[in-house]
Amino acid sequence: MKSNWWKQAVVYQIYPRSFQDSNGDGVGDLQGIIQRLDYLEKLGIDVIWLSPVYQSPNDDNGYDISNYYEIQPEFGTMEDMEQLINEAKKRKIKIVMDLVVNHTSDEHPWFIEAKKGKENPYHDYYVWRDPVEGDVPNDLTSVFSGSAWTFDPQLEQYYLHLFSKKQPDLNWENEKMRQDIYEMMNFWLDKGVGGFRMDVIELIGKVPDEKVTANGPRLHEYLQEMNKHTFGQHDVMTVGETNSVTPEEAKLFSSEDRNELSMVFQFEHMVLDQQIGKSKWDLKPLNLTDLKKVLSIWQSALKDEGWNSLFWNNHDQPRIVSRWGNEQEYRVKSAKMFAILLHLMQGTPYIYQGEEIGMTNIKVNDLSQLDDIESINMYHERLEAGYSKEEIFRSINTKGRDNARTLMQWDTSEQAGFTSGQPWLEVNENYDAINAAQALEDTHSIFYCYQQLIQMRKNNPLIVHGDYQLLLEDHPTIFAYTRSYQGETWLVVANFSEETTDIALSDHPTSLVPLISNSEKENYDLQDLKLSPYETFAVQLERPLLSGDVK
Ligand code: GLC
Ligand code: CA
Repeated sequence: MKSNWWKQAVVYQIYPRSFQDSNGDGVGDLQGIIQRLDYLEKLGIDVIWLSPVYQSPNDDNGYDISNYYEIQPEFGTMEDMEQLINEAKKRKIKIVMDLVVNHTSDEHPWFIEAKKGKENPYHDYYVWRDPVEGDVPNDLTSVFSGSAWTFDPQLEQYYLHLFSKKQPDLNWENEKMRQDIYEMMNFWLDKGVGGFRMDVIELIGKVPDEKVTANGPRLHEYLQEMNKHTFGQHDVMTVGETNSVTPEEAKLFSSEDRNELSMVFQFEHMVLDQQIGKSKWDLKPLNLTDLKKVLSIWQSALKDEGWNSLFWNNHDQPRIVSRWGNEQEYRVKSAKMFAILLHLMQGTPYIYQGEEIGMTNIKVNDLSQLDDIESINMYHERLEAGYSKEEIFRSINTKGRDNARTLMQWDTSEQAGFTSGQPWLEVNENYDAINAAQALEDTHSIFYCYQQLIQMRKNNPLIVHGDYQLLLEDHPTIFAYTRSYQGETWLVVANFSEETTDIALSDHPTSLVPLISNSEKENYDLQDLKLSPYETFAVQLERPLLSGDVK
């Protein structure tokens, strides 16, 4: 029987390169993660989403897999992996593997075979097209800049790569290829993993000739087939990275009766600070009313059907305190605001490593400081297109993926306690002030706010199942909503700004003790709320708010 345990769970994402190095080579590894399991147990999380640890030439830091059955040597061995699964299990933590099956590395044996000739059985595992009038088959572009087609001079054919040229797309129309993927997934399920996070899964049904990439016609057929042949037999969680789905499409992925995935991980709220119709690098300020609208649409749409992930951060996003909060004066307060706002919503919350201590973006101003292939390719493309370096680095410092990938800041020792050697990426120089050791000592730290939220979710079915209702829809700086379940109603209010803000949410005087907050106040009067910058609280109401209550 399936228990849907993942509806109550909180997930913590680890980017292994940056989490903890155990042997001084400057690269995080599996033994490093094992050393830090007690820390994660203390935080209270149920699941680790482990970014890829398979063998990879690291063109895209592991999202280009050259062997699905082997552990990347710099991360450790298969024994280390088994040990991690077991040690995590002892602490009631499940390991969810990141699974990249839209593409492989160009160094994967399948691709090496595929290039040997059109008659090779593996040729059709990938997407090949003949040149059209001596040129690319069409103008599909790669997410990492430039054409999505690369010419192979031996075969005189182009292969498709929606990401880098070292990430050729698999051809999901090939049944044999699909069976090989399912076999590999079963290998991992047999090892006892808690499920899969499925990288860019919405792309596997692509029809390149029609320039259809996301949500292709056979996508759901493939997912149902995969479910049937692999994880459908196990009580595990599966989360699909779905970049561009609508709530209606999300239901197709995640409604229980469709036997596809447990939940989607969608990004509609993550594109609100980019210019419409342009790329992530074309910045615009966030409008809070847009954010409220988008998050609320998803809360309502998946209420009875389907399941959503809740997140502000991952390894592809900048740090939320720097992005939409205040990384200076109100760093702790705004980080707690984000935590409370998100964790009291419906869905499965994800914490990205370092978020629980309020880690911030880094500032770079030279190409040599970049590691991320997406940023590096954009840098060259935009420089050539005439953008100034200042402009390019403004985009990179605001949105670049390296912001999320700097070393986990453990303590004040050199390299933030991440490594005793030379780290693969620079440490954020603020680690003296922002680190896990400091957070653990301070009972008012962001860490303990997350810990409290995780416990609240475990103890209150209202958080998991309650109805959601947005209040003050058009208020430019207040984000307020209620959750109601079995006669109980909670109110969550956040001042999403640096200004002190007065509001009244009721005609009656009240004196409510907060269930959680980021201030020292002992009680809240809804008739007369004076909220300090980023002040956020949740209270249980004595009666549901009436529509007339809200001004
Ligand atoms: C996903 C991953 C990202 C990776 C890309 C290609 O979006 O999250 O890190 O670069 O897929 O695999
Ligand atoms: Ca190491």
